[in-house]
Amino acid sequence: MANTQGTTGLLGWIDDRFPLTKMWREHMGAYYAPKNFNIWYYFGALSLLVLINQIVTGVWLTMSYKPSAAEAFASVEYIMRDVPWGWLIRYMHSTGASAFFIVVYLHMYRGLLYGSYKGPRELIWIFGCLIYVALMAEAFMGYLLPWGQMSYWGAQVIISLFGAIPGIGEDLTLWIRGDYVVSDATLNRFFALHVIALPIVLLGLVVAHILALHEVGSNNPDGVEIKKKKDENGIPLDGIPFHPYYSVKDLFGFSVFFLFFALVVFFAPEMGGYFLEHANFVPADPLKTPEHIAPVWYFTPFYAILRAVPDKLGGVIAMGGAIVVLFLLPWLDRSPVKSIRYRGYLYKGALAAFTVAFLILGYLGALPPSPGRTLLAQLCSLVYFLFFFLMPIYTKMDTTKAVPERVTYK
Ligand code: HEM
Repeated sequence: MANTQGTTGLLGWIDDRFPLTKMWREHMGAYYAPKNFNIWYYFGALSLLVLINQIVTGVWLTMSYKPSAAEAFASVEYIMRDVPWGWLIRYMHSTGASAFFIVVYLHMYRGLLYGSYKGPRELIWIFGCLIYVALMAEAFMGYLLPWGQMSYWGAQVIISLFGAIPGIGEDLTLWIRGDYVVSDATLNRFFALHVIALPIVLLGLVVAHILALHEVGSNNPDGVEIKKKKDENGIPLDGIPFHPYYSVKDLFGFSVFFLFFALVVFFAPEMGGYFLEHANFVPADPLKTPEHIAPVWYFTPFYAILRAVPDKLGGVIAMGGAIVVLFLLPWLDRSPVKSIRYRGYLYKGALAAFTVAFLILGYLGALPPSPGRTLLAQLCSLVYFLFFFLMPIYTKMDTTKAVPERVTYK
């Protein structure tokens, strides 16, 4: 006899004891997503794909990696040269780190385009911001592990920033490093955090992120709430089941992603020094500071903001503030509409200025500073912060267009 889920046999037996079919329906087969998703809606699923890639390749790397100052660098070389397919696993992991930030930045940018952070999706956004912070910590700690020159000196510079905090700064840096300089103790704890603690945090946050999303439902390029118009069975008129429609569409997205990913992994894994910096192929030397220390590309916008402020503490506050302000976005945006399609020139102009400023900051953060570059970085930092701080004003003043009742779909 069929149970409440209508299943029999082995599946029925499981469903009587575990909500397998119920969960499948809630999150896949009977999760109704807006039918007008566009290319921007690939990046959430792609972030999940890259997360899985990082975990799987990370587990295999851990099998041959040695987390000690004496052996780390050589063990990575051993993985590259002697472990069967080790080079592939390592390049998939290192390229995956950059790919993660590419898809996550595009995923976040979609939020800015379509107002996805606005009510009722504030918590999805907050969980997203927490994921972003955890991801930055994860990438930063992972970068120390190969124990190259840039691993070592990058960590030295970033950890020393905590020293700018009045009163507790010096003790805090000592506590983080576990030593007076970056050393074996630091490498060991970063390894523990990178391979187990932060991945657990990330996975937990991603589950919370998706549960929150499925509670309120997805936004879409029109910013129309599809749950407001339902048929007699309670199904949104503009919704289609996630499975098979979007599961298949995402599989197509995955294949396009893998094409680009493979091109990088096989033909340009260092990406001209942007994905794997040249100085990191030299073993860490605590006695020799590299001439130019620059973080990996995904940190450079924030590094540029840090350097734009002449005072060390001021720079640290500005850099931290640039990330904290992201959390406040749902409450800074006062526009009555969500999607950029129905916003006026004020928001469009502000977003365009913000985008250009962020890209310039990213470029400047990778270069050694000069007086002219510092001035430009200061200007771009100002634009970055004004985008957020003036948002309550310009989003309220903006002239918006009428939002349609139903999603537009061609
Ligand atoms: C590991 C990283 C992440 C994963 C795996 C992930 C996963 C997802 C997935 C699968 C979706 C639904 C599909 C889609 O809308 O594209 C989604 C939606 C969303 N994510 Fe993420 N996400 C991640 C990071 C972030 C970050 C860093 C933010 C923002 C700070 C963010 C904000 C959002 C928002 C606002 C939505 C709802 C979008 C809408 O309905 O228009 N996510 N996420």
